[in-house]
Amino acid sequence: MSQIHPETSCDKGYAERIIGAARDASPVAGLTHNFYRYPARFSPVFVRSVIEAFSSPGDWVIDPFVGGGTTLVEAMALGRHSLGIDISPLSSFICEAKTLVLTDQEVAAFERWRSRIPDTINIHEKSRRFERYAEAGYYRNLESPKHWRLRKAIEQSLVSVERLRLAGSATLARCVVLRSAQWALDARKQTPSISEFRERLQLLAEEMIASAIAFRDQVDSLSLNAPPQSISITRSTAGAHSDEIVQEVSPPKLIVTSPPYPGIHVLYHRWQVDGRKESPAPFWIAGKLDGAGSSYYTMGDRKYPNLRTYFEQLEASFMSVAAIAGPETIIVQTVAFSETEWQLPRYLAVMERCGLTEDRPWNISDGDGRLWRDVPNRKWHARQKPHSPGAREVVLVHRKA
Ligand SMILES: C[S@@+](CC[C@H](N)C(=O)[O-])C[C@H]1O[C@@H](n2cnc3c(N)ncnc32)[C@H](O)[C@@H]1O
Repeated sequence: MSQIHPETSCDKGYAERIIGAARDASPVAGLTHNFYRYPARFSPVFVRSVIEAFSSPGDWVIDPFVGGGTTLVEAMALGRHSLGIDISPLSSFICEAKTLVLTDQEVAAFERWRSRIPDTINIHEKSRRFERYAEAGYYRNLESPKHWRLRKAIEQSLVSVERLRLAGSATLARCVVLRSAQWALDARKQTPSISEFRERLQLLAEEMIASAIAFRDQVDSLSLNAPPQSISITRSTAGAHSDEIVQEVSPPKLIVTSPPYPGIHVLYHRWQVDGRKESPAPFWIAGKLDGAGSSYYTMGDRKYPNLRTYFEQLEASFMSVAAIAGPETIIVQTVAFSETEWQLPRYLAVMERCGLTEDRPWNISDGDGRLWRDVPNRKWHARQKPHSPGAREVVLVHRKA
């Protein structure tokens, strides 16, 4: 049984706010959160409550499995500096786009790009095939006659993005194409027409520039000595404590994260087209190269007996997380399990071996005293029963022993 640390700086008001936020089931919204639908993303409401409870403006917050960058966006909006680590280059692109603080020139250049969208996509005009990506297999499952129009529209959109010279405008425009293509392709029964795609591109361009400006205004309104920084790096968390960039900002005040979940298969790095065919197109559209197969992003093969590779990689990662943390650092994570009964104790044993002690600052008297939350609307749960264990996740709080 793990100990309770009464000294965790979580007063009653904050504990109640975190509990309320954990149970909030509203859809992901606000700031730049909807620039991409990253699988298994955090609830921003929950992350905000944790950042507010366990850090102050000007502190550093690290997310070692940052995914779609929810932590970075919330940290910046609250005046905290933040560092995200993720093994996926797609994650770094999304984090970069979501944390942009655009200059007026970048906004103006983006607006000019947006006004040209109606002429950019023209099925009667030629497009340019992205040969390097096509040869490396990134067009896989998009080569069928059913998809040629959409592929062409994406190519034409990307060519127009490449003409943008200001970095911020180009990143935002590329993210608009990525989000539109995700809307058009991922987990859809019917492929939209070209005019529907064009309309969606226009709509998202309009919505996303408005969100980016609102985000910039929020960051500008903070009365800090220096604007909050946000850094994202592509690498494995295992060994990250030796990384120069990580060392520079360690120890952080708070580490908040959600690692890949044991036994639950999530497609972080693919879209599903035509039923279940997997497409690596998001990497091509983001201008990034894919790392490897799905076990690379989910910490091992879930079919391996007892999830041995998963728990080995979890331990290697949390050894580094513990080395990044200082004696004052609070480590908050949310985890879902395919079979809670044996996986949770095993997960907690890994934390202990990494020198981390569990804390339950909530005073929750029912159940195991931990904070559990129902996971609303997660795609991979569609095939599970509504009350299967994987549809709930636990909030774990640790400190260095
Ligand atoms: C549950 S997702 C995080 C989602 C994130 N909380 C959000 O709000 O979008 C887990 C992430 O861990 C990343 N990942 C998997 N193995 C990793 C490793 N060894 N090191 C760093 N990141 C890893 C995956 O690429 C994925 O983006």
